[in-house]
Amino acid sequence: MSTHQPVQRVAIVGTGTIGASWATHYLARGFEVTATDPSPTAEAALRSFVEAAWDGAASVGLAPGASPDRLSFTADLPQAVADADFVQENAPERPDLKVRLFADIDDATPPETIIASSSSGITMSVIQAQCRRPERTVIGHPFNPPHIIPLVEVVGGTRTAPETIRDAMSFYAAIGKKPIHLKKELPGHVANRIQVALYREVVYLVQEGVLDVADSDDAVCWGPGLRWGVMGPHMLWHLGGGEGGIQHFMDTLMPRMVESWQKLGTPEFTPALQETIVNGVLEEAGGHAVEDLAARRDAMLAGLLAVRAQHDRPARRAPRPARRGPSAPEAPPGTALCDATRRISTDRTTEILVPRVGHTGIARAVPPPGTALPAVPGAQRPRAMSTAPVLDHGQGLRAVKPSPASPHEGLLVERLRVSGLGKWPGRAHVPAWTGHRPV
Ligand SMILES: NC(=O)c1ccc[n+]([C@@H]2O[C@H](COP(=O)([O-])OP(=O)(O)OC[C@H]3O[C@@H](n4cnc5c(N)ncnc54)[C@H](O)[C@@H]3O)[C@@H](O)[C@H]2O)c1
Repeated sequence: MSTHQPVQRVAIVGTGTIGASWATHYLARGFEVTATDPSPTAEAALRSFVEAAWDGAASVGLAPGASPDRLSFTADLPQAVADADFVQENAPERPDLKVRLFADIDDATPPETIIASSSSGITMSVIQAQCRRPERTVIGHPFNPPHIIPLVEVVGGTRTAPETIRDAMSFYAAIGKKPIHLKKELPGHVANRIQVALYREVVYLVQEGVLDVADSDDAVCWGPGLRWGVMGPHMLWHLGGGEGGIQHFMDTLMPRMVESWQKLGTPEFTPALQETIVNGVLEEAGGHAVEDLAARRDAMLAGLLAVRAQHDRPARRAPRPARRGPSAPEAPPGTALCDATRRISTDRTTEILVPRVGHTGIARAVPPPGTALPAVPGAQRPRAMSTAPVLDHGQGLRAVKPSPASPHEGLLVERLRVSGLGKWPGRAHVPAWTGHRPV
């Protein structure tokens, strides 16, 4: 059960690049937002940012009643946070400043309010040092710009309460973010470390003269970057392993990748290299203003998010019509034989599909005469079916029955991984065959 207030009012502390974007996001989600910043130009800059960013936020989706008019501003910190249900802090990245600021916010905020910091690199154990109620403080680190990009890294400090992390995760998820919980504090959290690791190699390739700046950007965004926008690296290697999936990838391709880790470069960041990058980027930008490029980026990101939302919906595919092969011999009573006998190789993974929920049974593999079936050490259950009971471990094959409530109607029943047989022209039986496909 939540120990924190349901959130209606959000306070934004610090309204620079990240604070202004967070403010836009919270307004777009329909909250009352009170912002504070000591800079004399902050309010005007914030309002103009929100106005300019509103269309982008709207393209991701507006909550009922969402309006930029629900933004108020005060330069007085205690006043800004006095009745906040959730505080998102975005002041400059300086430990001394954040420690003092968090102590001040802690003093001025209702005790049940969560106080989250956007800090990119300072851990919450440091930031919460002078708080009287550190248990309600947590890192909620966004990826720029938070009014578009869903990722938020959530990590507590040594004195953060587990329910604060749980409630912060729930809150962010409820407002359209994609929160991930870091089980350990780490300088730079996680997403920045990942992009820094990639960028080090990109800069190395530029320094070595392998690529110019524009080509190195293309190498990322037209290849791996496009794929990473829809699936993470582990899942992509699962696909990269072909029909054998991730196990095959790990067995055959991973050793070579591990070897190549030793060959990655560390550039020496000299003034000349800096000049090369700056000149290359300006040439690549082709005279377009940063804000125009940002609008272009946001429009494309909104389109990608819309496509993802469409594809991430639970699949409700129509059952495939049963196909019977011309020669469907030896099917035991109550079963139908896969009409296109599939060659199941030792290192491949195969899926069998069932027609509909409830229409299941024990899938059985039929080896060629005289062939013994080995155990199946690499048999894996797909994640989407993780709640389905396993019916049969026998015969070198696991069959999985979807529960009646399963949303996976017509989807995967099983993945086979047969080892030790070489090419095996096995046949798989399910009560009514609907097809199979390579993973
Ligand atoms: N810029 C990014 O891409 C990015 C991404 C994720 C997280 N962050 C984190 O967000 C935080 C803010 O970064 P930014 O890039 O928006 O910085 P920024 O310099 O653009 O904005 C900081 C704002 O804080 C205000 N400020 C100064 N002292 C303050 C105080 N005592 N109380 C309240 N506000 C104060 C400044 O006037 C300024 O408007 C940092 O912790 C940073 O690590 C930044």
